[in-house]
Amino acid sequence: MKLSTKHLLGIKDLTREDIQLILSTAGQFKEVLQRPVKKVPSLRDVTIVNLFYENSTRTRMSFELAERRLSADVLNFAASSSSAAKGETLLDTVNNILSMKVDMVVMRHSASGAPHFLAKHIPAAIVNAGDGINEHPTQALLDAFSMQEKFGSLEGLKVAIIGDIMHSRVALSNMYLLQKMGAEVVVAGPPTLIPKHITEALNVRVEYNLRKALEWCDVANVLRIQLERQNQPLFSSLREYNLAYGISRRVLDQLGKEIVVMHPGPINRGVELDSDVADGPYSIILNQVENGVAVRMAALYLLANREN
Ligand code: CP
Repeated sequence: MKLSTKHLLGIKDLTREDIQLILSTAGQFKEVLQRPVKKVPSLRDVTIVNLFYENSTRTRMSFELAERRLSADVLNFAASSSSAAKGETLLDTVNNILSMKVDMVVMRHSASGAPHFLAKHIPAAIVNAGDGINEHPTQALLDAFSMQEKFGSLEGLKVAIIGDIMHSRVALSNMYLLQKMGAEVVVAGPPTLIPKHITEALNVRVEYNLRKALEWCDVANVLRIQLERQNQPLFSSLREYNLAYGISRRVLDQLGKEIVVMHPGPINRGVELDSDVADGPYSIILNQVENGVAVRMAALYLLANREN
C-alpha cells in the first residue's frame, strides 16, 4: 500500500487509510526499535535535510534519529546559525540545499503555511514538522499511536484537548485525526483560548469547565500555554490559569476514575500540568516521545517509497 499524498503537510490532507497505514507501519518499526540492532537499510540511498526555522527539542531529535535508524544521510539546518540570519529567503535556502542532491525536506517554521508554499515551488517531498499555529501532523500521529497502544482502538475513544487551543497546531492536527478515526473530541479551556466558531468549523464540543471535561474523557491531552504567540494577555496570570485549568493529582483523584494524561511537550510545570501528574502513573508523556521515532520512521519510509 502507498500513501495518497506526496507530502505530509497536514492531517487535513490524509485519508483514514493513509493514517491507518502510517500507524500500522509505525507498529512494525517500533518492533525494530526493541531489537539490539535498531537500524534498517530502508532509506540507504536517501538524503534528508531537517530545516528548522523555529526551536525544537523532541521533533528535531526524533526526526534525526528516525532518519538515522532508516540509514538515510542526514543534514541539519538551524535558521539562527545559517545565512537565513543574513536575509536569505526560504526558497533560495531550500533550492541551494536541494542542488546538493537532497531528496526530502523536514521543515519547521513559525509561519503557518510555509511548507505548503514550499511544496508549490520545489520537487522534493516535504514533511511538516510544525508550521505556526496551523498543523503538526507527526505529533498527532504519534499521539494517535500512543492512544491506540493504550486502548487498542481510537474508535469511540473520548479525548479532551485542554488548554491553549487558539495557538496550538497540535490541537488542530489532533482534531482532524481523531475525527477521521472515529474518536469523540471535546476542547476545554478558558473562552479566550478557544476560537469562537470552533464548533461550526471543526464539529467539536467546547467545555469551559475543566472538571466536566475530565469527568467525560478517557484521555486528557494537555497543551502548553504558548505565551510567545500571544500578542496581548489572554488570562489574568499563570497562577490564576493553574487554579482554574491546571491539572494536579488532587484534581484527578477527585474524578473517581482513571484517565490517561498526555502532553506534547515542552511542559510548563505548575501551569497547565503539575509535576505530580506529569511524572505520575496517569501520564504517558514519555511513551509519546518514544513512539515519535517509530511514527516518523513510518512517515519518512512511506513517503520515500511512494517516489519509487
Ligand atoms: N512536541 C514538540 O513539538 O516539541 P518540540 O517543540 O520540542 O519539538
